[in-house]
Amino acid sequence: MSKLKEKYLAIPEQIRIVTVLFAIFLIMFIFGRRLFIPKTFGEYGHYRAAAVDDIMQIGLVYAGHQACAECHDDVVAEKSQHMHKHVACENCHGPGYAHTQAPDEHPLTIPTDRSYCVLCHSYNPARPTGFPQIDPVTHNPDGACIDCHQPHAPQPPEVPEECGSCHERIVRTLGAGHHNSLPCTQCHDIKQEHKITPRDFLPTVPRTREFCGTCHSTKASSAKEIRRVDIVTHGENYFCGQCHFPHNPEVKI
Ligand code: HEC
Ligand code: HEC
Ligand code: HEC
Ligand code: HEC
Ligand code: HEC
Ligand code: HEC
Ligand code: HEC
Ligand code: HEC
Repeated sequence: MSKLKEKYLAIPEQIRIVTVLFAIFLIMFIFGRRLFIPKTFGEYGHYRAAAVDDIMQIGLVYAGHQACAECHDDVVAEKSQHMHKHVACENCHGPGYAHTQAPDEHPLTIPTDRSYCVLCHSYNPARPTGFPQIDPVTHNPDGACIDCHQPHAPQPPEVPEECGSCHERIVRTLGAGHHNSLPCTQCHDIKQEHKITPRDFLPTVPRTREFCGTCHSTKASSAKEIRRVDIVTHGENYFCGQCHFPHNPEVKI
């Protein structure tokens, strides 16, 4: 006995620990396996037959887009003709199985927020070339995407021709005052792109006395009825716009 003990102690300590751990592992592997592996495993080879029953217990969550057509055939028809035809209904409205069973009790979510559309459309160089992408910071930041784009039938909408689509207040102000005969582009040079991504292509804003002087200087060759001032002395040192609102100039200040 003591010889055995001596031999045992002669083995380096690390090896002894590893051997004990290995023995524990082996016992757990042989007996523990029985505890943890379900009985039905192995009945038909390396496969657990009861898995199918278990999966059938999990309720359906997604209904698939065909199911929506039963009641929303108009939306399905419209979508299938347009660029979102490959984006599934439930991608945007969330899992819809419960809704198809009892529409009133389980209303679906409607993603109206800007932050939703940009999940797919915000600019990302990894996306395929030609995939329609925008920079959400500069692309019409003041409106919801669906103000301008139909989510079921998206296409780039008509570019608004009128400045007033976005600058309504200024158009009204201008129309009510002495500058009502002047088109916006008389004073602002604008690139067409300004109407698509406004902040990326800001128009020019005139800020020199000479600019107003082209019509109002006593020396200008503009139409006679326009009121003139000596632009060297009149309100000198200041830009004209600091005393006269350029969109609604008033002299009785
Ligand atoms: C059995 C008929 C039926 C099916 C199938 C069905 N719906 Fe509906 N859905 C309705 C009815 C009815 C309403 C209106 C409920 C209401 O106004 O509360 C509705 C409303 C909606 C709304 C608007 C909810 C709101 O708050 O205005 C969305 C979005 C919607 N359904 C999406 C879907 C999608 C996506 C599917 C497919 C997964 C689907 N529906 C399948 C009947 C159905
Ligand atoms: C790209 C995201 C997107 C997809 C895909 C989508 N929807 Fe919508 N859906 C919306 C948004 C956003 C609204 C809200 C529109 C609004 O308020 O002007 C909406 C509104 C609705 C409404 C309520 C108002 C209406 O226009 O009738 C129904 C019903 C609806 N969707 C059903 C569907 C069905 C069915 C499908 C699949 C054929 C589908 N949607 C696919 C985003 C989507
Ligand atoms: C799951 C991803 C996904 C979501 C979410 C999504 N889209 Fe799209 N969108 C697409 C795909 C895919 C196309 C088609 C691209 C193509 O065919 O080149 C598309 C096309 C478009 C186009 C057409 C652009 C063009 O050049 O004609 C517009 C506009 C658009 N989506 C707006 C929206 C709006 C608004 C929302 C939010 C209601 C939205 N999308 C949500 C994937 C998405
Ligand atoms: C004030 C109106 C307006 C709003 C709000 C708006 N857009 Fe647009 N969008 C436009 C116009 C106009 C175009 C057309 C540009 C063109 O023809 O290239 C456009 C083009 C697009 C395109 C196509 C770009 C391309 O290269 O083909 C996508 C995608 C798009 N918008 C997505 C969105 C998303 C997403 C939002 C919300 C975060 C949004 N838009 C908000 C007016 C708007
Ligand atoms: C799609 C909407 C849209 C249209 C259409 C549009 N603008 Fe703008 N414009 C904007 C936005 C957004 C800004 C930025 C406002 C801000 O930064 O507060 C802006 C800014 C401006 C500015 C100020 C530039 C600066 O440096 O501060 C001028 C000038 C201007 N627009 C003139 C015009 C004129 C003239 C037209 C018509 C020919 C026009 N815009 C059409 C959206 C639009
Ligand atoms: C007589 C020349 C003139 C005309 C015409 C004019 N503007 Fe301006 N606009 C200016 C000047 C000058 C400024 C700078 C004002 C300042 O900085 O105080 C300005 C500033 C702006 C700004 C930026 C500041 C703000 O008020 O938001 C916008 C946007 C703008 N104009 C849009 C328009 C639009 C849209 C029209 C047509 C409806 C128009 N302008 C017509 C001279 C003009
Ligand atoms: C393209 C020519 C043109 C330009 C440029 C122009 N105006 Fe005018 N302005 C007019 C016309 C036309 C009237 C109306 C006739 C009049 O009252 O003299 C007018 C009227 C005025 C009036 C008189 C208002 C009143 O109560 O009678 C003032 C002040 C004025 N403009 C200031 C400015 C300022 C400031 C600028 C530069 C930002 C400017 N204008 C640029 C053409 C122009
Ligand atoms: C320090 C403020 C100030 C500045 C800067 C200024 N104005 Fe005036 N302007 C006035 C006042 C106040 C009146 C009305 C009293 C008057 O006729 O002197 C007036 C009157 C006018 C009138 C009407 C003249 C008439 O015969 O009834 C025009 C046109 C005009 N200004 C254009 C301009 C132009 C163009 C500039 C820039 C070169 C400019 N103003 C800069 C304060 C200013």
